[in-house]
Parts: sequence; C-alpha cells; structure tokens
Amino acid sequence: MSDLKVCYNILSQVYKQQAYGSISLTNKLNEAKNRDFVTRLVYGVLRNDVKYDYYISKMAAKKPQNSAIILLKIGMYCIEEMDSMPDYAAVNNTVELTKEIGKQGSSGFINGVLKAFCRQKPALPSDEVQKLSVEASVPLWIVRQYIKQFGIENTRRFLTCQPLELEHARVNLKKTEVEAVKQRLTNLGVEYMTDEENKDCLFVRNGQKIRPLFDAGLITFQSLTSVRCCRTAAVKDGDEVLDMCAAPGGKSVYFAGVGENVKVLSTDIYHHRLELIQQYARRMGVKLEVRLMDATQCNKALFNSFDVVLCDVPCSNLGVAAKKPDVYLFKDKDRIFCITQTQAKILENGAKYVKEGGTLVYSTCTLLKEENEDIIKKFLKQNKQFSLEDQKTYLPDDKGSDGFFVAKMRRL
Ligand SMILES: C[S@@+](CC[C@H](N)C(=O)[O-])C[C@H]1O[C@@H](n2cnc3c(N)ncnc32)[C@H](O)[C@@H]1O
Repeated sequence: MSDLKVCYNILSQVYKQQAYGSISLTNKLNEAKNRDFVTRLVYGVLRNDVKYDYYISKMAAKKPQNSAIILLKIGMYCIEEMDSMPDYAAVNNTVELTKEIGKQGSSGFINGVLKAFCRQKPALPSDEVQKLSVEASVPLWIVRQYIKQFGIENTRRFLTCQPLELEHARVNLKKTEVEAVKQRLTNLGVEYMTDEENKDCLFVRNGQKIRPLFDAGLITFQSLTSVRCCRTAAVKDGDEVLDMCAAPGGKSVYFAGVGENVKVLSTDIYHHRLELIQQYARRMGVKLEVRLMDATQCNKALFNSFDVVLCDVPCSNLGVAAKKPDVYLFKDKDRIFCITQTQAKILENGAKYVKEGGTLVYSTCTLLKEENEDIIKKFLKQNKQFSLEDQKTYLPDDKGSDGFFVAKMRRL
C-alpha cells in the first residue's frame, strides 16, 4: 500500500466516521513506510480544511463526492506544501491514488482540477472577514464570533500567528534542578529556551533525545497555559484539592507536587483515563488519589470538603487548534453550545465541594465567551456566596501560549 493510501484511509476515517485525527493516525501509522510524511500530510490537510473546501467550491461545478473531496485535499496539500514533490508529481501521484482506492471513474476529474490548481489558485474572497476565514482556515462563524469578542486586529493576529515550535516543559523540582536539566539538554544537543514567566519551566525541542529525561520524570510536558492555570489556583502545602475533570492529570500532578502535605483527589468520568493520571503521578513521583466520578452528578459526600476545587471542564478546544488540527471539523454552533450545559453543571457542583473561604477555579482551553465569561457571569449571579477574584482569557501567540480561559472565585 502506498503512503498516500495510508493518508487517504486515515482522512476517510476522520471525514466519514468523525474519528479523531490523532487517534486514527496513531492506529494506522505502522502501515506507513515514511511516518513523518504521513503525519505531515494528514495534519496538513486537516489544518487547511476550510481553505481547501473554499478552493474546491470555486473549482468544481458541483459538490464532488466525499472520496473525491479527500483526494483533492491531499493533492492540493502536496502541490502547496510539499517542496520535495514537484507539481506534476503531486498531480500524478494523486491520480494514481484515485485508481489505488478503486475510484478510476474520478481520475479524469481529479487530474483536471489539480492541473488547473497548479496553473492558478482561485482568488481569495474580497470580503475582509471571509478572506481571513479562508487564509487562516477557520470556519466563518467562528471568525465572526472572535471578531465580536476581540476585534478584527487581535483576531487576525492570533489566527495567523505561527505557533512556537518548541514545547513547554516543566522541570520536576522534586527530582532535579533546572540548571541540571539545562546542562543535560546542552550535552544532548537539544535546543531549548528559558521561560521568563516560570523559572522552573523551559521551552524545548521535543524528540527522542529527551525521552530518557521524560521517562525518568525529570521533566514533563505541561503547556504554558496549564501552568498558568495551576498558578492561578495557588494551591498551598496542606491544602485539600479536588480536580474534577482531571485526566490526563497535568494539573493534578502539579498540585500534588506543591508540598509534602497536599492531598489531591483527581476524578474523571472515564476509567481508562484515570489510569493515565496514575501513570503520570508515578512518573513524577507524587501521590494522589484517583476516583471515577461524573462531575455533572452532585456528590453529597464531598460537600464543603476542599480548600481548592478545579473545574477544568470539557470544552470545544478551539484555543488549542494549533495542536489539534481537526478541532474545527464538525463544530457547528449547536454542537458547541450544547456543551455549555455540562460546563455550567460541573461548576455548580464544584462550588458545593469548596470549604468556606476556599477557592473555586474554572478553566477551559477555548476562547468562546459562551463557554467562558457567560458561564461565570451566570454562576456568580446565582451564587452570591462566591466572589470573582481573577478572570482572564489568554489568546494564542507565537511565544508559546495557547488560547485559554481561567476564572478564580472565592467562597465567602
Ligand atoms: C480538559 S480535559 C482535562 C485536562 C486535565 N485537567 C489536565 O490538566 O490534564 C477534560 C476532562 O474532563 C473529562 N470529563 C468529561 N466529562 C466529564 C464529566 N461529566 N465528569 C468528569 N469528567 C469529565 C474528560 O474525560 C477529560 O479527561
């Protein structure tokens, strides 16, 4: 099987069965001869999905079948982005792929559209907002919503910024020191940068060379925004902490590492994801308790029990689009806004578990105010015993930040 067919099969699962891109890729990557090529192409097509839909709509007289759309997107990505593949080879390879998947009947159409694409790409829309949607490959309704919230210039800046290629890593101060890690990275020839905001964190080039440091729990990959959320929660030694949507455990493990006497209870709705938290905690050498719990259900046994409760709720994930290129697929307004009921319910329950004087933190990795500020506003209106201490939306930037929202409230 050709590597292009492996790509096609993965993308078919994503587009036709709504599978997660990263999961399909992981499951099928062992069939690839060149894993880097397949990974780059699959993520590249998904990242450019809105843009390629626009091109196809301008180049095909009527909407092609799903399989032809996938083939055209693969061809367009090869033509636009694969410098090692000349345009004629990109067209020929995609036509061969059309035959390999048994769609010989479409090969003339695919050939024609891709040859025309090589000669001239369709002009971008003249309307400024539509143009931004195509250029940034973000659905128009989301761009419009962002412009309403952040203005056109901010929206353009964060939608078109190049994310930092280095990953954010936190040094495990229980096991080592920052200087020792820097020395190891230098010895290994691994590129890194310091994080001026967090002295125990670095931006590093992820790869096989640093695997031993990770496996030994000397460092962990925790995004800058996740660390910011943890710092906002300001857990102290001796605190009892509840992390209600805890898997895979980044924040729970951080809290458990704050001191010898922090007690962390990490809950999640999925059993298999609790195991991820335990593995994470073992690797980092911290202790915490995990428990299966549906955070939307009220648990009276936990009332008034915690100094800090974190509700890091499931969300539309739009703030981490740079890391999850399929995040915009199948996300219409109804689907996104139906999650807000779950978010509000989890926050409402979380509030009941906070001790008097304790802290309630709500966070998401999305930018839509319906999932963020609106939830907090409504909650505070209905829960006068809580006051807002801090609330902030972080926009994605080229300095390592994802899109993220965090609100900190205190029980009076
Ligand atoms: C944003 S992730 C949490 C990330 C985590 N806090 C961390 O820092 O590693 C959201 C989590 O919520 C869990 N979840 C979704 N619905 C839930 C529910 N009703 N009750 C509890 N957990 C839920 C998901 O399984 C997922 O692990």
